[in-house]
Amino acid sequence: MTHSTDLIAGDIEQYLERHANKSMLRFITCGSVDDGKSTLIGRLLYESKLVFEDQLTALEADSRKVGTQGEGLDFALLVDGLAAEREQGITIDVAYRYFSTEQRKFVVADTPGHEQYTRNMVTGASTADLAVILVDARKGVLTQTRRHSYLVSLLGIRHVVLAVNKLDLADYEQEVFERIVGEYAGFAKEIGLTDVVAIPMSAYVGDNLTERSANTPWYEGPTLMGHLETVEIDDDLLARPFRMPVQWVNRPDLDFRGFSGQIVSGVVRPGDRVRALPGGRESSVARIVTRDGDLTEAIAGQSVTVTLADEIDVSRGDVLAVADALPGVADQFEAHLVWMGEDEMLPERPYLCRIGTMTVQARITKPKHRINVNTLEKAAANTLALNEIGVCNISFDRPVPYDAYTANRDTGGFVLIDRLTNSTVGAGMITHALRRSDNVHWQVVDVDEGARTELMGHSPQILWLTGLSGSGKSTIANEVERRLHALGAHTYLLDGDNVRHGLNQDLGFTDADRVENIRRVTEVARLMADAGLIVIASFISPFRAEREAARELIGTEHFCEVHVDTPVAVAEERDPKGLYRKARRGELPNFTGIDSPYEPPLSPEVRIDTTSDSPEQAAGRIVDLLRARGVIA
Ligand code: ADX
Repeated sequence: MTHSTDLIAGDIEQYLERHANKSMLRFITCGSVDDGKSTLIGRLLYESKLVFEDQLTALEADSRKVGTQGEGLDFALLVDGLAAEREQGITIDVAYRYFSTEQRKFVVADTPGHEQYTRNMVTGASTADLAVILVDARKGVLTQTRRHSYLVSLLGIRHVVLAVNKLDLADYEQEVFERIVGEYAGFAKEIGLTDVVAIPMSAYVGDNLTERSANTPWYEGPTLMGHLETVEIDDDLLARPFRMPVQWVNRPDLDFRGFSGQIVSGVVRPGDRVRALPGGRESSVARIVTRDGDLTEAIAGQSVTVTLADEIDVSRGDVLAVADALPGVADQFEAHLVWMGEDEMLPERPYLCRIGTMTVQARITKPKHRINVNTLEKAAANTLALNEIGVCNISFDRPVPYDAYTANRDTGGFVLIDRLTNSTVGAGMITHALRRSDNVHWQVVDVDEGARTELMGHSPQILWLTGLSGSGKSTIANEVERRLHALGAHTYLLDGDNVRHGLNQDLGFTDADRVENIRRVTEVARLMADAGLIVIASFISPFRAEREAARELIGTEHFCEVHVDTPVAVAEERDPKGLYRKARRGELPNFTGIDSPYEPPLSPEVRIDTTSDSPEQAAGRIVDLLRARGVIA
């Protein structure tokens, strides 16, 4: 009897109570396009009787219209809800389905198998307890199978079902099944997957899904559903040390100050000693507040508000952790990285990094190697492209509390986000912190900005001129410096061509080299501004991300972005160094404006249209702005 008929027949209170106490299994399904994932999930839903009459009617109609299964019901249509995937025949987003049986509740993430969509798989896998890896019996173990298995292992999923699907199309041959199982076993062992259960099946026919199939008399293991219902999930979050990333500080009035968030591991009770990290102050839990009243205990998975006995400084992004088993705090790490950006990773580019509830700025300081998912070989790498997996050193702009990913997925995992498009470009798993920064501290000196300003007679400032080659940056920069000098200001002009003769002579004009060029120049400009100078930085600096990072590092009050705006056609017409001609002849690859992009500033402090403003007018406007900002008298 299914539980839905139970529901109608039995005592509803009793039923709900039993249902509420059932354990929950989160799993993902992964496979290549056409391996039959959607059919499998559709049939699991169907057989657990969670498909309603009207949906079934629609399914029959749809199956006739667009189904790929002839006259039969196409269970994939139950799952492939999105119009686009119906048209293209591929699943394009992560769809979470909830269903339950007598024994358990389930959340299944249907993750797409198309080569482009590693991203979705990572999304679906990061909370799963188990992965069902589908293999088409006719095709066997493919690169995709290996990639998905490797990701599954990397993402900390301990339990795997190898579903050898479409066995009906291989005449239910035991030999076919055994061969695939044998082939997979070696790989699984190498990547550390120890709990692998292989099941011969046909999701379409329904073999070994919920009922043992007469077509595979040689198979003695569990059905898929049978296994899902009984597999023991040993990954006990409750046994791990208490961690709660603070989502927000709840302060409705002066008498109440609570810290809200979801407990990601462990248990907490009033009286427990906890520490707020990265700050490091300790206190004890006073109350655990929820909408339904105070709790005497809260566990992993619950969202609560915690109040502390002492007034210590805790802000959004901090982690509350049990005092006798603390996470580490560091700003540099070695991590596994799965790259999901369309554009390849640029070392030293500032990405946004979300770790726990904290958002920091992160740079890949050193890609170490990429991993060949077929051979598991490591090859030296300078970058990672879409879908590649590698190991990198990464540096955050401030210390964060962390655990190794293997100890805690929530405090050891992070995602990288492109600052401009806001899309997720990478998923990372911390292996360990790099100790190199532990003994280096910023020295505080007595001669500070105020003292220097007094002596200089003006405050420091960075004028950042950006624009195409030949746009007129150098001419304007030179004129600005001349005027400031005449006014008695202490200045220095940092110019692209000049810096590339010394400090940056090892850099060329690839995207990665330009990123590094601007990063170094930003650091130099910062030191010069720290020395009290008005710095005029004149660089093509074609990428918004690096200019924004410069602004953030230096502080927007000390940073003034000037867009020397000249259309490519005009710069090319002027061509003061003959470089456009060279580029057009193909003798100068990666030339900005020709075959290398320029991203204009969106809201610069000053925009100069060099087709209407003379260099003198431009310089006048910039100096006026410095006056208006109070930099010079
Ligand atoms: S940036 O893109 O990294 O900011 P930068 O301002 O340092 O460039 O250097 C640009 C100068 O290098 C140009 O003014 C030009 O004289 C020279 N140059 C040589 N090759 C290139 C190229 N491929 N693209 C742009 N500028 C180039």
